[in-house]
Amino acid sequence: MSARRRVGVLISGRGSNMKSLIDAAKAKDYPAEIVLVIGNRADAGGLAIAKDAGIPARMIAHRDFPSRAAFDAALDKTLKEARVELVCLAGFMRLLTPEFVEAWRDRMLNIHPSLLPEFPGLDTHARAIAAGKRVAGCTVHFVRAEMDTGPVIAQAEVPIEPGDTPDTLAARVLKAEHRLYPMALKLVAEGRVRVAGDKVEIADA
Ligand code: GAR
Repeated sequence: MSARRRVGVLISGRGSNMKSLIDAAKAKDYPAEIVLVIGNRADAGGLAIAKDAGIPARMIAHRDFPSRAAFDAALDKTLKEARVELVCLAGFMRLLTPEFVEAWRDRMLNIHPSLLPEFPGLDTHARAIAAGKRVAGCTVHFVRAEMDTGPVIAQAEVPIEPGDTPDTLAARVLKAEHRLYPMALKLVAEGRVRVAGDKVEIADA
Protein backbone atom coordinates (compact mmCIF):
# COMPACT_ATOMS: atom_id res chain seq x y z
CA MET A 1 0.00 0.00 0.00
CA SER A 2 1.22 3.54 -0.62
CA ALA A 3 2.34 5.68 2.33
CA ARG A 4 -0.33 6.69 4.81
CA ARG A 5 -1.49 10.28 4.72
CA ARG A 6 -0.08 12.38 7.57
CA VAL A 7 -2.93 13.95 9.57
CA GLY A 8 -2.94 16.77 12.13
CA VAL A 9 -5.95 17.12 14.43
CA LEU A 10 -7.02 20.43 15.96
CA ILE A 11 -9.09 20.35 19.15
CA SER A 12 -10.47 22.74 21.76
CA GLY A 13 -11.98 20.34 24.29
CA ARG A 14 -12.50 16.78 25.40
CA GLY A 15 -11.31 15.27 22.13
CA SER A 16 -13.61 12.28 21.77
CA ASN A 17 -13.71 12.64 17.97
CA MET A 18 -9.92 12.97 17.93
CA LYS A 19 -9.79 9.72 19.92
CA SER A 20 -12.00 7.99 17.35
CA LEU A 21 -9.52 9.00 14.62
CA ILE A 22 -6.52 7.86 16.69
CA ASP A 23 -8.22 4.52 17.36
CA ALA A 24 -9.14 4.01 13.70
CA ALA A 25 -5.59 4.80 12.61
CA LYS A 26 -4.27 2.00 14.83
CA ALA A 27 -5.39 -0.46 12.17
CA LYS A 28 -2.44 -1.24 9.91
CA ASP A 29 -4.54 -0.97 6.76
CA TYR A 30 -6.02 2.44 7.67
CA PRO A 31 -4.80 4.92 5.02
CA ALA A 32 -3.94 7.76 7.44
CA GLU A 33 -1.86 8.25 10.57
CA ILE A 34 -2.34 10.90 13.23
CA VAL A 35 1.07 12.57 13.53
CA LEU A 36 0.14 15.62 15.60
CA VAL A 37 -2.64 16.98 17.82
CA ILE A 38 -2.86 20.71 18.54
CA GLY A 39 -5.10 22.16 21.26
CA ASN A 40 -5.80 25.86 21.63
CA ARG A 41 -6.97 25.79 25.25
CA ALA A 42 -5.07 24.67 28.33
CA ASP A 43 -8.14 22.77 29.52
CA ALA A 44 -8.46 20.77 26.30
CA GLY A 45 -8.64 17.33 27.94
CA GLY A 46 -8.03 15.75 24.58
CA LEU A 47 -4.35 16.72 24.70
CA ALA A 48 -3.76 14.34 27.61
CA ILE A 49 -5.59 11.58 25.74
CA ALA A 50 -3.38 12.14 22.69
CA LYS A 51 -0.20 12.07 24.78
CA ASP A 52 -1.34 8.84 26.48
CA ALA A 53 -1.80 7.36 23.01
CA GLY A 54 1.79 8.32 22.14
CA ILE A 55 0.81 11.06 19.68
CA PRO A 56 2.79 14.33 19.74
CA ALA A 57 0.45 16.90 21.31
CA ARG A 58 1.03 20.63 21.33
CA MET A 59 -0.75 23.45 23.11
CA ILE A 60 -0.90 26.61 21.03
CA ALA A 61 -2.98 29.08 23.02
CA HIS A 62 -4.75 31.62 20.83
CA ARG A 63 -4.57 34.02 23.78
CA ASP A 64 -0.79 34.18 23.39
CA PHE A 65 -1.12 35.83 19.98
CA PRO A 66 -1.93 39.44 19.14
CA SER A 67 -4.27 38.58 16.26
CA ARG A 68 -6.19 35.78 14.56
CA ALA A 69 -3.71 35.92 11.68
CA ALA A 70 -0.73 35.48 14.00
CA PHE A 71 -2.36 32.50 15.73
CA ASP A 72 -3.22 30.88 12.41
CA ALA A 73 0.33 31.45 11.15
CA ALA A 74 1.65 29.58 14.19
CA LEU A 75 -0.78 26.73 13.50
CA ASP A 76 0.30 26.61 9.87
CA LYS A 77 4.00 26.57 10.75
CA THR A 78 3.54 23.80 13.30
CA LEU A 79 1.49 21.68 10.89
CA LYS A 80 4.06 22.12 8.13
CA GLU A 81 6.97 21.29 10.44
CA ALA A 82 5.22 17.99 11.18
CA ARG A 83 4.76 17.46 7.42
CA VAL A 84 1.00 17.27 7.87
CA GLU A 85 -0.94 16.61 4.65
CA LEU A 86 -4.53 16.64 5.95
CA VAL A 87 -6.03 18.61 8.84
CA CYS A 88 -9.02 17.37 10.85
CA LEU A 89 -10.91 19.85 13.00
CA ALA A 90 -12.41 17.87 15.87
CA GLY A 91 -14.37 20.13 18.19
CA PHE A 92 -12.05 23.01 17.32
CA MET A 93 -14.14 26.00 18.35
CA ARG A 94 -12.19 28.81 16.74
CA LEU A 95 -12.89 30.55 13.48
CA LEU A 96 -9.94 30.33 11.10
CA THR A 97 -8.86 33.16 8.81
CA PRO A 98 -9.77 32.95 5.12
CA GLU A 99 -6.02 32.83 4.35
CA PHE A 100 -5.50 29.74 6.51
CA VAL A 101 -8.63 28.08 5.13
CA GLU A 102 -7.51 28.78 1.56
CA ALA A 103 -4.01 27.41 2.26
CA TRP A 104 -5.59 24.10 3.36
CA ARG A 105 -8.42 24.10 0.81
CA ASP A 106 -9.79 20.59 0.22
CA ARG A 107 -7.20 19.26 2.68
CA MET A 108 -9.02 20.32 5.87
CA LEU A 109 -12.07 18.47 7.25
CA ASN A 110 -14.50 19.39 10.00
CA ILE A 111 -17.16 17.45 11.88
CA HIS A 112 -20.34 19.24 12.88
CA PRO A 113 -23.21 17.84 14.99
CA SER A 114 -26.09 18.51 12.60
CA LEU A 115 -27.20 17.62 9.12
CA LEU A 116 -25.70 20.68 7.40
CA PRO A 117 -26.80 23.01 5.93
CA GLU A 118 -29.35 22.77 8.76
CA PHE A 119 -28.27 24.19 12.11
CA PRO A 120 -24.78 25.59 11.62
CA GLY A 121 -23.24 27.15 14.74
CA LEU A 122 -23.90 26.27 18.37
CA ASP A 123 -26.71 24.51 20.29
CA THR A 124 -27.55 22.30 17.33
CA HIS A 125 -29.40 19.67 19.35
CA ALA A 126 -31.60 22.10 21.28
CA ARG A 127 -32.47 23.82 18.01
CA ALA A 128 -33.31 20.54 16.24
CA ILE A 129 -35.62 19.52 19.11
CA ALA A 130 -37.23 22.98 19.26
CA ALA A 131 -37.88 22.84 15.51
CA GLY A 132 -39.80 19.57 15.96
CA LYS A 133 -37.41 17.58 13.78
CA ARG A 134 -37.70 13.78 13.82
CA VAL A 135 -34.18 13.22 12.52
CA ALA A 136 -30.84 14.71 13.59
CA GLY A 137 -27.30 13.77 12.69
CA CYS A 138 -23.78 14.84 11.90
CA THR A 139 -21.77 15.99 8.91
CA VAL A 140 -18.13 15.76 7.83
CA HIS A 141 -17.24 18.43 5.28
CA PHE A 142 -14.33 20.24 3.75
CA VAL A 143 -13.79 23.58 5.45
CA ARG A 144 -14.59 26.89 3.80
CA ALA A 145 -14.10 30.36 5.28
CA GLU A 146 -17.72 30.78 6.35
CA MET A 147 -18.43 28.80 9.52
CA ASP A 148 -19.87 25.28 9.07
CA THR A 149 -20.01 25.48 5.29
CA GLY A 150 -18.18 23.53 2.59
CA PRO A 151 -18.59 20.47 0.38
CA VAL A 152 -20.15 17.59 2.33
CA ILE A 153 -18.12 14.37 2.40
CA ALA A 154 -20.42 12.23 4.56
CA GLN A 155 -23.45 12.46 6.82
CA ALA A 156 -25.11 10.15 9.33
CA GLU A 157 -28.68 10.39 10.57
CA VAL A 158 -29.98 9.49 14.01
CA PRO A 159 -33.62 9.56 15.17
CA ILE A 160 -34.91 12.17 17.58
CA GLU A 161 -36.90 10.18 20.16
CA PRO A 162 -39.91 11.45 22.12
CA GLY A 163 -38.65 12.93 25.39
CA ASP A 164 -35.16 13.63 24.06
CA THR A 165 -33.29 16.46 25.74
CA PRO A 166 -30.35 18.21 24.09
CA ASP A 167 -28.06 15.99 26.20
CA THR A 168 -29.66 12.66 25.30
CA LEU A 169 -29.72 13.63 21.64
CA ALA A 170 -26.11 14.88 21.79
CA ALA A 171 -25.00 11.50 23.19
CA ARG A 172 -26.76 9.63 20.35
CA VAL A 173 -25.31 11.94 17.70
CA LEU A 174 -21.83 11.71 19.24
CA LYS A 175 -21.85 7.93 18.81
CA ALA A 176 -22.62 8.46 15.14
CA GLU A 177 -19.84 11.08 14.90
CA HIS A 178 -17.33 8.55 16.20
CA ARG A 179 -18.21 6.19 13.34
CA LEU A 180 -18.59 8.83 10.65
CA TYR A 181 -15.35 10.80 11.04
CA PRO A 182 -12.94 7.84 10.66
CA MET A 183 -14.98 6.63 7.68
CA ALA A 184 -14.89 10.05 5.97
CA LEU A 185 -11.18 10.55 6.63
CA LYS A 186 -10.53 7.10 5.16
CA LEU A 187 -12.30 8.07 1.93
CA VAL A 188 -10.25 11.29 1.66
CA ALA A 189 -6.95 9.59 2.56
CA GLU A 190 -7.58 6.92 -0.06
CA GLY A 191 -7.82 9.68 -2.65
CA ARG A 192 -11.40 8.73 -3.53
CA VAL A 193 -12.89 12.14 -2.80
CA ARG A 194 -12.96 14.82 -5.47
CA VAL A 195 -14.40 18.29 -5.02
CA ALA A 196 -16.46 19.45 -7.97
CA GLY A 197 -17.76 22.96 -7.33
CA ASP A 198 -19.77 22.91 -4.12
CA LYS A 199 -20.12 19.14 -4.13
CA VAL A 200 -18.03 16.09 -3.42
CA GLU A 201 -17.80 13.12 -5.78
CA ILE A 202 -16.71 9.79 -4.34
CA ALA A 203 -15.02 7.24 -6.56
CA ASP A 204 -15.70 3.51 -6.13
CA ALA A 205 -13.12 1.56 -4.16
C1 GAR B 1 -18.58 17.37 18.71
O1 GAR B 1 -19.93 17.07 18.91
C2 GAR B 1 -18.38 18.13 17.41
O2 GAR B 1 -19.21 17.68 16.38
C3 GAR B 1 -18.70 19.54 17.83
O3 GAR B 1 -18.12 19.68 19.10
C4 GAR B 1 -18.09 18.40 19.75
C5 GAR B 1 -16.66 18.12 20.17
O4 GAR B 1 -16.59 16.96 20.95
N1 GAR B 1 -18.19 20.48 16.89
C6 GAR B 1 -18.80 21.62 16.56
O5 GAR B 1 -19.83 21.99 17.06
C7 GAR B 1 -18.08 22.43 15.49
N2 GAR B 1 -18.95 23.39 14.91
P1 GAR B 1 -15.21 16.20 21.13
O6 GAR B 1 -14.20 17.24 21.63
O7 GAR B 1 -15.48 15.17 22.17
O8 GAR B 1 -14.81 15.62 19.80
